[in-house]
Amino acid sequence: MCGIVGYTGAHEASPILLAGLRRLEYRGYDSSGIATISDSQMIVRKKSGRVRVLEEALVVEPAPGSCGISHTRWATHGPATDRNAHPHVGHGGTVAVVHNGVIENHSSLRKELEARGIVFKSQTDTEVIAHLIAVELGDGDDLLAAVEAILPRLEGTYGLAVVSPRCPGQVIGARLGSPLVLGLGEGEHLIASDPVAILPHTSRVAFLQDGEVVRVTPHDFEIRHRERGSITPRIDRIDWKPDAGELSGYDHYMQKEIHEQPDTVRDACRGRLRKAEGTAYFGGLNMSPRQLRGIRRVVFAACGTSWHAALVGEYLIERLARLPVEVEYASEFRYRNAPLDSRTLVFVLSQSGETADTLGALREATRQGHPTLAICNTVGSTIAREADGGIYLHAGHEVGVASTKAFSAQVAVLTMLALELGRLRHLSFPDGVAVVEALESVPDLIAEVLKTEPIIARAAEKLTHAQSALYLGRDIHFPVALEGALKLKEISYLHAEGYPTAEMKHGPIALIDKQTPCVFVAPKGSLHAKTLSNVEEVRARLGPIISVGTEGDESLMSLSDSFLPIPDVPEIIQPLLAVIPLQLLAYHVARLRGCDIDKPRNLAKSVTVE
Ligand code: M6R
Repeated sequence: MCGIVGYTGAHEASPILLAGLRRLEYRGYDSSGIATISDSQMIVRKKSGRVRVLEEALVVEPAPGSCGISHTRWATHGPATDRNAHPHVGHGGTVAVVHNGVIENHSSLRKELEARGIVFKSQTDTEVIAHLIAVELGDGDDLLAAVEAILPRLEGTYGLAVVSPRCPGQVIGARLGSPLVLGLGEGEHLIASDPVAILPHTSRVAFLQDGEVVRVTPHDFEIRHRERGSITPRIDRIDWKPDAGELSGYDHYMQKEIHEQPDTVRDACRGRLRKAEGTAYFGGLNMSPRQLRGIRRVVFAACGTSWHAALVGEYLIERLARLPVEVEYASEFRYRNAPLDSRTLVFVLSQSGETADTLGALREATRQGHPTLAICNTVGSTIAREADGGIYLHAGHEVGVASTKAFSAQVAVLTMLALELGRLRHLSFPDGVAVVEALESVPDLIAEVLKTEPIIARAAEKLTHAQSALYLGRDIHFPVALEGALKLKEISYLHAEGYPTAEMKHGPIALIDKQTPCVFVAPKGSLHAKTLSNVEEVRARLGPIISVGTEGDESLMSLSDSFLPIPDVPEIIQPLLAVIPLQLLAYHVARLRGCDIDKPRNLAKSVTVE
């Protein structure tokens, strides 16, 4: 989704801003732009398309200056054109603004400004902000005061960066509902919507809170809150592995991240498994065993892949802890006024920690007075900071828009959570030890599955020319099927739907023909014989069959056009293995179809608008 980078210091701003924008490319965008201040002049360049198009434009028409702001836009109001790209310039050319978020009252503000004779150049909601600041600034030179004065007029969400030729060397940032981080360098300061953009310059950062405004100059910064006045921020240090943003020999980030999953699961489990007690333990939950034992219901709220992981969690917790679990779409939960009692534990799950719908669900549960917990990957993200406690995934930076390793880390964490909740109830010590041992074996087993990539790549050829595919799984494999279908949709643009296997007979079976493959997630388990009957039903209708099954399963193999094996393991850890062939299948289909795997159309890595 949209990205912001701002810089003020001793160096030329535009190469730093462009490098920052390139680091944000993974988030998804459709245009980019830059504004710099040089000799009290403002230079604005913006282009639809990739950052490389902007870079090429800057070779022809440079943007000099050691202070500037930049943006990658993911279109919401108005299509992806040069005009709609940010920065937007306010009336009289006195300010330039980049903005993440949505201004909900933009239409009425626009009418008001137009009535005053201001001519709009774009269809965006952001342009109203630029004009409001310019009008407020008038002939003055207190840009911070002008920004502060107009912010109460904006309804919606924003992360903003603003520059003005009246205030060379200054960048103003503001945050309400859309993240903004300040980077503290030597003789330079940066602001960004995502720390990834600025970490090559500094690891010392301060996360702005909602309602805060910052003014940065090369040697100084000042943060103010709209109600609390001057703020001394907490300075965090972010660990950064230099190669985390590199491809390390892989062709795509998605492929790299799929292959990282043995380490992902290892890191998620590190220090949390207690074999001697046959349980798991999370320090960050901030709840005593007595409090956890008092829980009568668990609610998960999440979106997309995180929602699928939560569904796996539902099966795991119900099975190991016999606790009722509900999994909610965060976007629905936040407005549904769901009845929650005091013995309900509310968890939100989010890789990015910035998903607007999930944050909304967290805030709704908090508003109702419930303690809230987060399962989150991004350290210091808004969700991580606002939850009362939680569990970090430790999956490292996930660049691929199609989430892969975060799913595995979430499922590993949820397996441990189910184990801990189970051991606080009726789960026996030997059964707990068996889960611990199963989890300990997962990294090496994932490595085994990854070795089957050539088989999966061949199976992908069978899907490449399909119009549509069904993904089917029973019980704990139903969410895995949903996740496999989502991966295929996202990066190959093939239509795919996930269903509980037996549900196929109640409608989707009408779709099955020679051109409509079915992908069965069918490792051996208690319901295997029933699944085989469903496979037969598809075969009888000539539907091509790709199946993920237990190695050596002759029955399933003989019914399948392509058989993708996983090791023979207890059901409880099967989802962690079964998802791997599905991720690779989607990856290879997309590759064969020539899709832009790391920048799939219309998608954003973190969805910070409703
Ligand atoms: O960062 P989050 O986990 O909150 O993101 C939720 C979804 O937007 C995300 O999982 C999305 O569905 C991915 N593109 C899936 O690959």
